[in-house]
Amino acid sequence: MSFAEEIELGIPHDYLPELPAYDPEVNHAPVRKEILTDLEKKLALKNALRYFPEKFHAQLAPEFAEELKKYGRIYMYRYRPSYEVKARPISEYPAKSKQAAAIMLMIQNNLDHAIAQHPHELITYGGNGAVFQNWAQYRLTMQYLSQMTDEQTLHMYSGHPMGLFPSHPGAPRVIVTNGMMIPNYSKPDDWEKFNALGVTQYGQMTAGSYMYIGPQGIVHGTTITVLNACRKIDTAGTTAGKLFVTAGLGGMSGAQPKAGNIAGVVSITAEVNPKAAYKRHEQGWVDEVIEDVDAAIDAAEAHRAKGEAHSIAYLGNIVTLWERMVERNIKVDLGSDQTSLHNPWAGGYYPVDMSLEEANEMMAHQPEAFKEAIQATLRRHAAAVNALTAKGMYFFDYGNAFLLEASRAGADIMAENGIDFKYPSYVQDIMGPMCFDYGFGPFRWVCASGKPEDLEKTDRIAERVLSEIMERSPKEIQQQMADNIRWIQQAGPNKMVVGSQARILYADAEGRIAIARAFNEAIAKGEIGPVVLGRDHHDVSGTDSPYRETSNIYDGSSFTADMATHNVIGDSFRGATWVSIHNGGGVGWGEVINGGFGMYLDGSEGAKDRLEQMLLYDVNNGIARRSWARNSEAIFAIKREMERTPLLKVTLPNLASDDLINQQF
Ligand SMILES: NC(=O)c1ccc[n+]([C@@H]2O[C@H](COP(=O)([O-])OP(=O)(O)OC[C@H]3O[C@@H](n4cnc5c(N)ncnc54)[C@H](O)[C@@H]3O)[C@@H](O)[C@H]2O)c1
Repeated sequence: MSFAEEIELGIPHDYLPELPAYDPEVNHAPVRKEILTDLEKKLALKNALRYFPEKFHAQLAPEFAEELKKYGRIYMYRYRPSYEVKARPISEYPAKSKQAAAIMLMIQNNLDHAIAQHPHELITYGGNGAVFQNWAQYRLTMQYLSQMTDEQTLHMYSGHPMGLFPSHPGAPRVIVTNGMMIPNYSKPDDWEKFNALGVTQYGQMTAGSYMYIGPQGIVHGTTITVLNACRKIDTAGTTAGKLFVTAGLGGMSGAQPKAGNIAGVVSITAEVNPKAAYKRHEQGWVDEVIEDVDAAIDAAEAHRAKGEAHSIAYLGNIVTLWERMVERNIKVDLGSDQTSLHNPWAGGYYPVDMSLEEANEMMAHQPEAFKEAIQATLRRHAAAVNALTAKGMYFFDYGNAFLLEASRAGADIMAENGIDFKYPSYVQDIMGPMCFDYGFGPFRWVCASGKPEDLEKTDRIAERVLSEIMERSPKEIQQQMADNIRWIQQAGPNKMVVGSQARILYADAEGRIAIARAFNEAIAKGEIGPVVLGRDHHDVSGTDSPYRETSNIYDGSSFTADMATHNVIGDSFRGATWVSIHNGGGVGWGEVINGGFGMYLDGSEGAKDRLEQMLLYDVNNGIARRSWARNSEAIFAIKREMERTPLLKVTLPNLASDDLINQQF
């Protein structure tokens, strides 16, 4: 059967596909803890079987029951497609709607073996960032997309395609929600339970919204963060000879060594999982893997002495590395962490002094003991970091909930006022005031033709457009413009494409619109094929997350989620091809609401109108909110936008004097 035929078939109704062998070479999701009662297990099975004709139930029921017992979830491995899952050129997808074909391409990219962390469990990144809960949902969704016209919209409930509903060409083709719970049911164990029942999933940010572009997405953000962190500790911003120590070589964290190299520092990244460490080495994302902690430190010191950029993966626990650095009195300049602490009890963070296998065993069978081991590790982790910051290291939380979980574990991580943490999140210090408040965020695009030469052409278009804008930019954003122009000049030579022909670039509303418009014109002239636009949810307006994206909002509203909700609704009627809104992503289930969009550009006048309307709102919604929270950079940015855009009228804050307020209480 051809690729197209298998997609059009969906879930076969006449026969059972052959059960593929469990492939131990593939990086599989950890076994999820047993959480369901016997009654609930029956419900999970009944839920799973509703995808299949009754004649197959007798054979599928014991198989799915066994998956639930063995892995804690029903993935329906039997229904994995026989073709290779990867982003193909858009023309290869069987589809009546080009927009739907673009979405298929993006879904497949998220599940590509070179991209996805646990491809057979449909997990793209972050340990639990799912595109779908099971393979039946995948097959059914691809089939619907192949059938749909531009007069229909597909509604996705946490991986489950509820169906195609009549709509109109200006409507989104797909509406995605992931993990949207009644608020009281958003604790980590609620995810375990309702995901095991097969009724919800953790979509992370760009996993369940089909907008992941491999580690390149985060390389750029991390490069900007490392560059700006160097500017914080050294006004000259010198990067040569600086040492950056961190952890995690997984889906997103795998970008850290590459970003360190691009920024020009020496880095050591600890990683406990050999599969993850060697995969990144093979892909050229880290220069070498060293298994001995002292050898790793010695190698870093040697490169540092020469002032040359170099990246080392230390194969071991981050706490072993930190503690050894304290013992050896190593001077570290920058420290951070990108283990998956948004998911501490289910494999996101591994305890020290224990093998990976022992830890996985304990996690599945002794969850309470595992939790204690994790919390003890976190206390040691924080103590070692504290010892090094006392000697001058600049440490920042990299949005993985390290400070939050360390505080919950009773680690010495709170500031003297007992409210704040000892260390800033990178958003509070760097990303918020330097990028988001001005509207700069992780804009991205994918060349749907799959041609590297199209990507190269789009790089040059973006470089030209940004250079023109920079000539008339105010001084407040000159540094951002310069960093991004340098990035796009180096992006091709740095060979960062894994999977689809994608590129990321930080740009503000003006830049995003101008770049998108120029792409649309190039498509109309036949210079390049169609382009899919999007962004990470981790952006100016997309995410409400009090310990991360909105951690530099200080008016109390950081615990509200109005901005992300407005964003996804606002984008949906301004021309997005698909929109998504998620509970959880980055910092954990129940801790964040975030959303995003995808937009298909085909060179038409309609696409031009859509991109102009939607991108303007997509960025300025967040700037307006940041400005209302009294962030001075955002007040500057929204006033500038109102001058440019007469139809935009935003409520501006009046600033009260602190003296006056302090006199009242
Ligand atoms: N700030 C941001 O922009 C940003 C971006 C991406 C991800 N994140 C956050 O960073 C975290 C990591 O994301 P990811 O996609 O790389 O997750 P991931 O699960 O793919 O990777 C984390 C890696 O950490 C390793 N690890 C766990 N515990 C360890 C330990 N004690 N010592 C050494 N290695 C250990 C794991 O083996 C895994 O490979 C997530 O919480 C994510 O939300 C933040």
